[in-house]
Amino acid sequence: GKAPRVSYVCSNCGDGFSQWWGTCRGCQAVGTLTKFFPGADSADADADAEGSHHAGRSWIRQKSKEMVPKKLREVTKGFDQAGWRIPLPGTFGNEISRVLGGGVVPGSLVLVGGDPGVGKSTLMLQLASIVSEGSEDHGSSPVVYVSGEESIEQIANRADRMSIKSKDLYLYSSTDIEDILDKIQPLSPKALVVDSIQTVYLSAFAGSAGNQVQVKECTSALLSFAKMTNIPVFLIGHVTKTGDIAGPRVLEHIVDVVLYMEGERCLSHRLLRSAKNRFGSTDELGVFEMSEHGLQAVLNPSEMFLTEHDSDSEILAGLAVAVVLDGSRTFAIEVQALSVPGSLGQGKVVGTKSKRVEMIISVLMKQAGLKLQDNVIYLNVVSGFELSETAGDLAIAASICSSFLEFPIPNDIAFIGEIGLGGELRTVPRMDKRVMAIAKLGYRKCVVPKTSEKLLKPLDLDIQILPCNNLKEFINTVF
Ligand code: TYD
Ligand code: MG
Repeated sequence: GKAPRVSYVCSNCGDGFSQWWGTCRGCQAVGTLTKFFPGADSADADADAEGSHHAGRSWIRQKSKEMVPKKLREVTKGFDQAGWRIPLPGTFGNEISRVLGGGVVPGSLVLVGGDPGVGKSTLMLQLASIVSEGSEDHGSSPVVYVSGEESIEQIANRADRMSIKSKDLYLYSSTDIEDILDKIQPLSPKALVVDSIQTVYLSAFAGSAGNQVQVKECTSALLSFAKMTNIPVFLIGHVTKTGDIAGPRVLEHIVDVVLYMEGERCLSHRLLRSAKNRFGSTDELGVFEMSEHGLQAVLNPSEMFLTEHDSDSEILAGLAVAVVLDGSRTFAIEVQALSVPGSLGQGKVVGTKSKRVEMIISVLMKQAGLKLQDNVIYLNVVSGFELSETAGDLAIAASICSSFLEFPIPNDIAFIGEIGLGGELRTVPRMDKRVMAIAKLGYRKCVVPKTSEKLLKPLDLDIQILPCNNLKEFINTVF
């Protein structure tokens, strides 16, 4: 059998909700929500009255009828929409939870974008599974994964490979938004996943799935659905390499949260970032590894961003370690430079801003007297990670010097600092945090701007600090 259709209805205003709230979201009365089992007939009759063609739009109409402007003084406070979140347990859950700003906000519409094949369906199936399983004190509840891309047998096969066995996880294959919302509402799920926006359509609108009008209208209907029912909706969208969702950018404006999944096809790690978040900050980063059994959270990303070195093998010239901050986390990433004779100046730069590298090369020539003009310099930041912080300047300079001078940098040194046009080293935000993180990773020495020394001195650090005023001092210290 099916799970009973449970919903909650307010005895004061009659508003219905998919979950229990202490304060009615419709009339703000306290303690008036009671369990309600709607009969199959009443739900169907409602849909018929609206006219089946506009069922998708009815979410919008119903809401506007019952809302009236309220005086500020009459609004009952103490009900904080962003206050309560659906927790995501486990290491995998924690990783997504952080990117979302601390759990899933009920009634939110989250767009999950990324290149085809990056792992969006995999990520969302796992998310659906953990939301459904709940935690020990909440127990399991229905979650629906709707796919317009795959049959339910295909999804079940994938779930099998990933050892997903959630007993309340529902699969549904459909591309008709009205049909999807009609079918899932009676289940009153804790969350809904729609895979993908490019495959769904509303029959009231012209054009086939994936066109601009359909993409926009379907997203709006899902947003109304989420707000009306308080069910969080995760919407998958394919993004082309140029960064646009295939369809209008307007999609990003409609939804509450935009997450992007990134990764190189040949490498196993996947990054999840939020580009927009109405309920939290956008600078958190989730790091996952794609395995045979789905995605796993990477607890120590530094290990991933550093190339493995055999302790016996020779250390190569041109490698330097930077310490970057992403969201609330710090990690070490490796910068590789290759300097070869030639007259082109700067070669290909991967993983950081080419203009910034150009500037660092110029400063190295002018202020440190390095004769780089007859060299082509290639730069690569390991793992396809985008090194955008100026805190990475010093590591970039170090890797270039190391390759040019053919002098390998010992692999227990890290570099933190911004480089100014005068060759001076400048301090960067969260210096203490970066140095502590790098010490924890087992690095023995860290080159920092002289101006950061005072800040770091009082800390009881298990790492030797090498303060430098400028690039010349830096070269004398390291090489
Ligand atoms: P998928 O989630 O289908 O990507 P998207 O929905 O973004 O298009 O995942 C695509 C790739 O992930 C596919 O090439 C196979 C791989 N994969 C694994 O490596 N391990 C797994 O457990 C699963 C389910 C997929
Ligand atoms: Mg997919």
